[in-house]
Amino acid sequence: RTFPDSELASAQVARELADFIRERAAAGQTAVVGLATGSSPTRVYEELVRLHQQEGLSFQNVVSFNLDEYYPMAPDSLQSYVRFMHEYLFDHVDIRPENIHIPDGTVLPEQVADYCRDYEAQIVAAGGIDWQLLGIGRTGHIGFNEPGSGSGSRTRLITLDHITRTDAASDFYGEENVPRRALTMGVGTILEARHVVLLAWGEGKAAVVKRLVEGEPTDTVPATYLQHHPAVQVVLDEAAAAEL
Ligand code: GLP
Repeated sequence: RTFPDSELASAQVARELADFIRERAAAGQTAVVGLATGSSPTRVYEELVRLHQQEGLSFQNVVSFNLDEYYPMAPDSLQSYVRFMHEYLFDHVDIRPENIHIPDGTVLPEQVADYCRDYEAQIVAAGGIDWQLLGIGRTGHIGFNEPGSGSGSRTRLITLDHITRTDAASDFYGEENVPRRALTMGVGTILEARHVVLLAWGEGKAAVVKRLVEGEPTDTVPATYLQHHPAVQVVLDEAAAAEL
């Protein structure tokens, strides 16, 4: 779905997510949402906050699982995804703190494997992800599933691609300060979400969007595995759609 600009697109995505949350609430059920960080979803979060403040959208029935976190990363660091999510969404809505899940960048190295298995188990215990929001990196990553990530990969510690670290350099005041690793849900974890919405804005994403939509599924561009998913929407502005 291509929109004239990212603002209109984000407002539409936020309304659709809000409708889903309300439907579930009306049925007395939870809405399990997978959330993303980065610049792509920020306007969606702003609109959800507006819907909460002005239209009474409640997050009391929302259970959230974030895709990823740098490793190592203290939650109170400027660059942590914990801080990001609180700043853009959680601090402004009525989500229950115990329903928020974000991979923990402070887990000890020897506990990472158990921690990642437990993260997966918590998703399963919540009933699986109903609605997954995604961005896409220039390497073709979803979450932090860099090139080489297989379609069956699960939550794990990965090494960040050089391009991803270059793209994150300004957030960390220099590439040398960007962590070399991250915790991320796997491609397989993401593919199990029942409904997936991927956002991409701007001409810088046009080339990877073309590979995502028109390329053969390959672990060289892990996002291409979304082509196997039965219910995925790719939401673009005109610049990101320019090469299709
Ligand atoms: C980040 C995140 C991804 C995100 C991607 C794109 O590093 N870990 O989940 O989708 O890179 O970021 P942006 O939306 O800022 O372009």
